[in-house]
Amino acid sequence: MHDLREFIEGLPKAELHLHIEGSFEPELMFELARRNAVPLGYASVEQLREAYAFSQLQDFLDIYYQGMSVLLEEQDFYDLTRAYLQRVHAQNVRHVELFFDPQGHTDRGVAFTTVIDGIWRALQDSQREHGISACLIMCFLRHLDQNSAMRTFEQSLAHRDRITGVGLDSSEIGHPPSKFADVFARAREAGFRVVAHAGEEGPPAYVHEALDILRVQRIDHGNRALEDPALVERLVSEAIPLTVCPLSNLRLCVVDDLRNHPLKQMLALGLRATVNSDDPAYFGGYMNENYLAVQEALELTREDIVTLARNGFEAAFIDAPRRQALLHELDRYVATQ
Ligand code: ADE
Ligand code: ZN
Repeated sequence: MHDLREFIEGLPKAELHLHIEGSFEPELMFELARRNAVPLGYASVEQLREAYAFSQLQDFLDIYYQGMSVLLEEQDFYDLTRAYLQRVHAQNVRHVELFFDPQGHTDRGVAFTTVIDGIWRALQDSQREHGISACLIMCFLRHLDQNSAMRTFEQSLAHRDRITGVGLDSSEIGHPPSKFADVFARAREAGFRVVAHAGEEGPPAYVHEALDILRVQRIDHGNRALEDPALVERLVSEAIPLTVCPLSNLRLCVVDDLRNHPLKQMLALGLRATVNSDDPAYFGGYMNENYLAVQEALELTREDIVTLARNGFEAAFIDAPRRQALLHELDRYVATQ
């Protein structure tokens, strides 16, 4: 285990499932609340952290939306994104695909351009300073209606060159992928990559819908796909990557114990699973903590760890030269460690 810890820490990795608003650490949240004179509703960082006891996705989402309400200025989005990138740079993350929730901001009166300008400036700084490649995936909030998603989609077109893909997040149960068929069709026509959260809390039917109706290229989470053998076969044969988030699954009670996490089974079934952090400030860990926790709980081998890292680079929305460079970096690391 000790050797594997060092191996994981130095391993070049890709993060493909990260909500930038979920990387908002309480210390920075308090600082920005003060800077913007927005009341947070908690007396201290400690009191806020104590509220991070969730028994399901909705418990978390309620606090997550409250937390992001202190983000008002371009500099706030810059500081948030910059802090995340500094942390994952220290963990040898080489490529990131960031989700952001425009409706969580525009519905509070913050302009789309304020959000994306701040995030983008931080991505560019990290690319220049650390060589981290990055892209942006705009998520639609599934608890809102499709008209709201469509208005957001239309606003995003002014920033088309900075947005790689669209996704679907927030409260899953009761909000199936089919609710967003039209906006995803428009996004595909406009050339966006498409992903969706499915099978985190929702049933395997939602994963089917994400594939059949939204035509997603990756499934975010996908845990409950394992309940449906025909669906597993399809995900394997179509080589659809799953962006799996172990500590998130534990903290949101998708699994009762990491020793019962399906990641190892996913690999054994031939699924293209990747490891990601989801909302690291809320779930107790960034990339390395997720890899380490799941390695220990499931007794993953060095080969399993390399497969997971390789899957991340193979599932990333990057061009062929960048993919080759990252896979080469991984191969070199593995050969010398
Ligand atoms: N938004 C942020 N994190 C999420 C998650 N784990 N599931 C659904 N929506 C989210
Ligand atoms: Zn997520």
